[in-house]
Amino acid sequence: MKNLVILVSGSGTNLQRIIDTIDNGEIPNAKISLVVADRECYGLERAKNHNISNVLIPRGKNFSSELSKVIPENTDLIVLAGFLSILKPEFCENWDRKIINIHPALLPKFGGKGMWGHHVHNAVIEAKEKESGATVHFVTSGIDEGEIILQKSFSITENDIPESVAEKVHLIEYEIFPEAINKVLGN
Ligand code: GRF
Repeated sequence: MKNLVILVSGSGTNLQRIIDTIDNGEIPNAKISLVVADRECYGLERAKNHNISNVLIPRGKNFSSELSKVIPENTDLIVLAGFLSILKPEFCENWDRKIINIHPALLPKFGGKGMWGHHVHNAVIEAKEKESGATVHFVTSGIDEGEIILQKSFSITENDIPESVAEKVHLIEYEIFPEAINKVLGN
């Protein structure tokens, strides 16, 4: 049995997808041992609703060291599922190739500091991109720079606005996140 720790900051629909795909066997042999939020958010409620151990560690300069204290030693994978804090380089090195993140664009485009949530989709529309998508990648100390595990794209039409792009990205995320987790876990 592989143990996952999931980090969230927001509504947690990707967390929900992971919960559901573990339940229905799409992600076999895995369990979520802990959900960590860096702020009050609906993701935390989802963990509570499913009786998954959960903890709120307020964002800020001590976040990574506090996080280190609560992550079980037998953790196989730390999954950033809509998580907004930046993890300290030391933390990333300690868990090298055991932390993955989902990013709402086709990295290496539209990544890096400040590129999160609606900022990403606004930038994609402004740049008149022909496509966008989602990327699952390993987390290193360079923001959004770690090796890409899985990526999937869709075409942007002339009617698309940042909000519609966001919706399409989410659907792609629900598709590739469980697949990427399986890939990393060796399933
Ligand atoms: C996703 O689009 C993810 O790529 C980004 O934040 C969003 C989180 O959505 N990092 P949710 O909280 O899983 O609904």
